[in-house]
Amino acid sequence: MHTFQQLAIAFEKRIQTQSLFPTHLGSLYEPCNYFLGIGGKRVRPVSCLMANELFGDITEDAWHAAMGVELFHNFTLVHDDIMDKAPLRRGKQTLHERNGMTAGILCGDVISIYAYRHLAQVKFALPQILQLYNTTAIEVCEGQQLDMDFEKRTDVSLEEYLQMITLKTSVLLACSLKMGAVLGGATEGNAQTMYEFGKNMGIAFQLKDDYLDAFGNPEKTGKQVGGDILANKKTYLAIHARQQANTPQLNTLEALENRNDMDKVTPTLALYQATQSDIACQNAIQHYSEKAFECLEEIIVPASRKEPLRELANYLLAREY
Ligand code: IPE
Ligand code: IPE
Ligand code: MG
Ligand code: MG
Ligand code: MG
Repeated sequence: MHTFQQLAIAFEKRIQTQSLFPTHLGSLYEPCNYFLGIGGKRVRPVSCLMANELFGDITEDAWHAAMGVELFHNFTLVHDDIMDKAPLRRGKQTLHERNGMTAGILCGDVISIYAYRHLAQVKFALPQILQLYNTTAIEVCEGQQLDMDFEKRTDVSLEEYLQMITLKTSVLLACSLKMGAVLGGATEGNAQTMYEFGKNMGIAFQLKDDYLDAFGNPEKTGKQVGGDILANKKTYLAIHARQQANTPQLNTLEALENRNDMDKVTPTLALYQATQSDIACQNAIQHYSEKAFECLEEIIVPASRKEPLRELANYLLAREY
């Protein structure tokens, strides 16, 4: 059995040794190498590998699937940064900031095709793996569209928010885990429970992402502070604050939403705290993590084999970036 750190290092080695992109046409592939090279936590590939190892030794197929999900994730980030007008990612310039909009669009496209290329190397249960991947990829696009649509609305409910983050973020984590399980020969029941584990972990993960966007240390998150506030994203914090605000607070929140200067971040954060939305968000993270741990309990393998996944879930909860 391997730890999160061991698998993340092993995965990183694979990225470095298999040159992921060709050496010709540098205007297309150099930015792709840049983006994959600036790091990232590698949560999805490691999840896939851990779910695989739950049922036996890690298979070559699981490595292909791990590469596929990480490439897909990076594709979504490249396009997400265009949509969110984000200047920074992983403490570095976003791809479109560094190389322009054409590169942002086309590098994203080609990275997504490379994700398929890696996935297609899977030998065991390929039709099932591709079906799961395709369904997930479509759901991520739907979630991303809802995220953008919500920027322009003020009446988004917490239920709608949870549906949106399930689509844009948590299904990919769930898919990564289920792929690892399927490729490890898990029973249908165990594979599905892994999916549910991932879905709840993914919801907690996005809640934490939203929390860090507002209250995290930018030196650690590597992202612009208050990016979500500037874009009028309907995060858990934003929705909860609106629901709990008294009339003067609500008026201030609305006035702040109508502004688009950097100075709106600090007063918005103060209102999140005044309405205890920061605490509510932390509680929601706890709630979905507990649900995830319950799913992990249900998986029928010896408890000691689940230790790395428990460690992974705890790491995601405690993370500061
Ligand atoms: C960021 O994902 C996008 C979300 C779905 C919240 P990560 O926080 O996993 O990003 P990296 O890959 O570690 O940079
Ligand atoms: C991104 O959500 C989800 C996907 C890329 C599918 P965010 O927009 O919150 O992610 P960050 O904060 O930019 O990493
Ligand atoms: Mg986004
Ligand atoms: Mg974003
Ligand atoms: Mg975010």
